[in-house]
Amino acid sequence: MKVIVMDNALEISKAASDIIIKQVNNKHGSVLGFATGASPVETYKRIIEAYERNEVSLKYITTFNLDEYVGLDRENVNSYFYFMKDNLFGKTDVDFSRVNFLSGTAENMEAECERYSQKIKESGGIDIQLLGIGTNGHIGFNEPGDKFADGPFAVKLTQSTIDSNKKYFEAVGDTMPEYALTMGIGDIMRSKKIILIATGESKAKAVKELVEGEVSPACPATILKLHADVTVFLDKESAALLSKDR
Ligand code: F6R
Repeated sequence: MKVIVMDNALEISKAASDIIIKQVNNKHGSVLGFATGASPVETYKRIIEAYERNEVSLKYITTFNLDEYVGLDRENVNSYFYFMKDNLFGKTDVDFSRVNFLSGTAENMEAECERYSQKIKESGGIDIQLLGIGTNGHIGFNEPGDKFADGPFAVKLTQSTIDSNKKYFEAVGDTMPEYALTMGIGDIMRSKKIILIATGESKAKAVKELVEGEVSPACPATILKLHADVTVFLDKESAALLSKDR
């Protein structure tokens, strides 16, 4: 696992977007795994800017997102589909017929998870998976527990995740769903390359566990140590608790 500490979120977004843009330009029909939340927003902005300068086209990429809230349809401003449309897809030439999402409104969750799993396999696998990390060490919505999940599944969100994300729902007078569908750890680990972004003091504890802790489902992100190609981008605040002699 390569750990890179940068001055700020802007520097991180430049480095992360460069890797993604290079991937898209080097392989026609690249398969990209995207994350939502605050961590990747600046990176998406840099990709949009590169698109506007004609330095990259997203027309032929296939995309998979990590997760979606149960009960929210694509038009809901707090759905992760809406987030991606608003923060990246709708501002570039992404072909929505190649955008893949877990459906939060699927009648049969199990069948929906199986469908998504098949789609990932049929795509040939994810070339680059972008990740954030929860304050509790989750990746995707793989919450701390006693085992790692392989494929996509329905998850009951922890209080920590609800506390971190409920502000987005409260802002529009809604209550945050308690369940989500998420890619499993296996899906994430099968990605050829992984980039994780963590910024801010609130992530420092989870980052310390990720970098210096043992691999354990109690901090799901620690599994990334077993992957051959992971780059972790940190700002000074999120790296603050790391041992100096690392
Ligand atoms: C989002 C996701 C989550 C977030 C994590 C960090 O699709 O899967 O794991 O990456 O909760 O969220 P932010 O970036 O908002 O701090």
